[in-house]
Amino acid sequence: MNQAIRPTSENPPLAAGLPAVSVVVPTFNERDNVGALYRKLDAALKGVAWEVIFVDDNSPDHTSDVVRALAQRDSRVRCIRRIGRRGLSGACIEGILASSAPFAAVMDADLQHDETQLPKMLALLQSGEAELVVGSRYIEGGSADSFDRQRAGASALATEVAKRVLGVRIADPMSGFFMIRRDRFEQLAPELSIQGFKILLDIVATARTSSSTRELRTVEVPFTFGSRLHGESKLDSMVALDFLGLVVAKFTHDAVSLRFLLFAMVGGTGLVVHLGTLFTVLQFGVAFPAAQAAGAFVAMTSNFILNNFLTYRDQRLKGLAILRGLFAFYLVCSVGLLANVGVAFSVYDQAPIWWLAGAAGALMGVVWNYAMSGLFVWRRR
Ligand code: GDD
Ligand code: MN
Repeated sequence: MNQAIRPTSENPPLAAGLPAVSVVVPTFNERDNVGALYRKLDAALKGVAWEVIFVDDNSPDHTSDVVRALAQRDSRVRCIRRIGRRGLSGACIEGILASSAPFAAVMDADLQHDETQLPKMLALLQSGEAELVVGSRYIEGGSADSFDRQRAGASALATEVAKRVLGVRIADPMSGFFMIRRDRFEQLAPELSIQGFKILLDIVATARTSSSTRELRTVEVPFTFGSRLHGESKLDSMVALDFLGLVVAKFTHDAVSLRFLLFAMVGGTGLVVHLGTLFTVLQFGVAFPAAQAAGAFVAMTSNFILNNFLTYRDQRLKGLAILRGLFAFYLVCSVGLLANVGVAFSVYDQAPIWWLAGAAGALMGVVWNYAMSGLFVWRRR
């Protein structure tokens, strides 16, 4: 199919050699797949001025070397190698923003998405019929047969929640395969979350709820979600948490971030650990102040470990940095405890309602710990 671009108000004529569409491919350990994808793109996009931008999070299997080798033979191939960062959504955002083509597509590197749909998706955007085209597994003609039952169930549940809670109207908001007008994306970009997997849901929900933009005119095209060529999926059980966080963030109009929510949830488990330790240590006849200190110590330690694996898993501390981080965390939390007690006292002084004072103190503590941990424990490199 020849997708030469008709100049319209939506499509200003392109200067010779400039791409009409950028295909953004996030990669993590995909060295055996990128060459095959490149050849498939080349075949599918005959007659279209295209480029592909691989966004690699410094994969240990050196995917970026393979991409670089392709790029040396074909200038339509580009590679963004990100160091010290992880995350599918963030990688996609950076890739799209790095392109200057009027349209950008996002797809997996592992051939699970059907590249032969790209010309059709592009045509829908170029004609102005759509601002966003979604490759959909859940409309007539599409399928996700390669999913096992567990994953199919999880995907269906998440889709249902997204529709009900966020009022998203498309059939497959969890798809990782879509094409969008870059100018519309650029308006939304500052409000998108760089954490997590669900970039399409984020885009759709943000466009719906944001005060600065309007909803995206969206068309879905069916496709069959294939099997992965080489390697394994990077989706793990954490993706459920990511999803939940995104729903909460969008539902609260970004008042509550995923990271803060996770941090507060970990804090909640800390309370249980604290009381459990206190109870256990008291059984051994230890005096209350010492037992209370032991409880705090064990709770801070378990909070640190959980936060390192959950809340800040994208910038997880490793090796010796764990020890340094742990001590910084003890310090932060100790000051947080003072702030907690201080606020609780002053609230209680104003209005002697125990639960109000206690909750105010706890909120102060968690906000303090969160802010300071971001600065001193898991600071960005
Ligand atoms: N740069 C970067 N950083 N890329 C990543 C990361 C990351 O942290 N994690 C995963 N990727 C890349 C993978 O290398 C792959 O090219 C693509 O993102 C999707 O990851 P997969 O591991 O292949 O995910 P999946 O196939 O299990 O899930 C797909 O289907 C879901 C729908 O069920 C993805 O397309 C999801 O986005 C989609 O929601
Ligand atoms: Mn995949």
